[in-house]
Amino acid sequence: MSASTSASARIAPAGKPAEVASGAKRERVFSGIKPSGTPTLGNYIGAIRHWVAEQDIYDNIYCVVDLHAITVPQDPEELRFNTRQLYALLVASGLDPARSAIFVQSHMHEHAELAWVLDCVTPMGWLNRMTQFKSKAGSDRELASAGLYTYPVLMAADILIYHADAVPVGEDQKQHVELARDVANTFNNRFGETFVEPRPIVRTVGARIMSLDDPSKKMSKSESENSYISMIDEPAAIRKKIARATTDSERTIVFDEKRPGIFNLLAIYQSLTGRSQDAIEAEFEGKGYKEFKAALADAVVETLEPIQQRYKALMADPDGLERLMAEGAAKVQPTAQATLQTVLEKVGLR
Ligand code: TYM
Repeated sequence: MSASTSASARIAPAGKPAEVASGAKRERVFSGIKPSGTPTLGNYIGAIRHWVAEQDIYDNIYCVVDLHAITVPQDPEELRFNTRQLYALLVASGLDPARSAIFVQSHMHEHAELAWVLDCVTPMGWLNRMTQFKSKAGSDRELASAGLYTYPVLMAADILIYHADAVPVGEDQKQHVELARDVANTFNNRFGETFVEPRPIVRTVGARIMSLDDPSKKMSKSESENSYISMIDEPAAIRKKIARATTDSERTIVFDEKRPGIFNLLAIYQSLTGRSQDAIEAEFEGKGYKEFKAALADAVVETLEPIQQRYKALMADPDGLERLMAEGAAKVQPTAQATLQTVLEKVGLR
């Protein structure tokens, strides 16, 4: 029996987050996003918009991963707010609580429990190779938290506890998903077929949106304010940030990876408009950076404005938001509980 067949057999119907209308088994996707600040246009383009667009293809589970947010120093009040804000932004972006299970990681204690068991089967050598730890730990690694170091194992637990087949992520998370796959394989070899070995889904366009003021770095909410567009930036701020984004001294507006500034802006434009590179190059032939940047700003504003309106309405109803979060957790809980129980039995803890 394959891992995926055995997994689906183990999942109680009540734990299934989405009904499969046709009767055919849909692949299950799981993905997460950290509430460590307002999400950026990079999060939206690299991850969220795909989650939204593909809800009818997959059996969907999406998670606000607040346990991951405390791996670096965090203000408690801000974390509480960021968690709700991010949840509201996911729903405002079009993740539909009726078609997807959307929940907050810490509402499900099973993730952290499974992570401990998986910590105990994961070789340290694998964690030593994680590039994100190296970049996030900073210059003095001795001071980084043990949580930051074992973070990829918690991420593996998030994915494996639901037997997800695939994990749609931006480029920077691919290595972590591959680790989850290796952890699943190791556990299965040692204790018998238990977990599905998940695969990453990384897009060809927009999987790595770069900083606006330093296109050699990933766009990230942890960098300076002008380097990223937040999902709740006002139109005026969006236009200003794009107008001052780094380009180069050349004139042509063409997709050329050797010109990282303009290439990044073009990639954003391509992601948001869905148009081909040829069509975009034709559109801006003979035009200057100023015109292109104005068109790009329009595309970003047009994308974010309706999301921001829905976001404001959701944030104005905190009880409604709490209800959605509780319903999301209730949908996934039976599966998480069943997986954890199986794992505890397999390793001899029950
Ligand atoms: P996080 O919160 O950093 O990012 C959430 C998603 O957004 C993508 N992303 C980007 N894509 C393109 N360009 C960018 N500049 C950019 N910045 C971020 C990320 O690749 C990600 O898909 N460890 C994860 C959260 C996590 C998770 C999981 C993901 C925890 N458990 C299980 C998948 C499955 C993280 O910190 O993502």
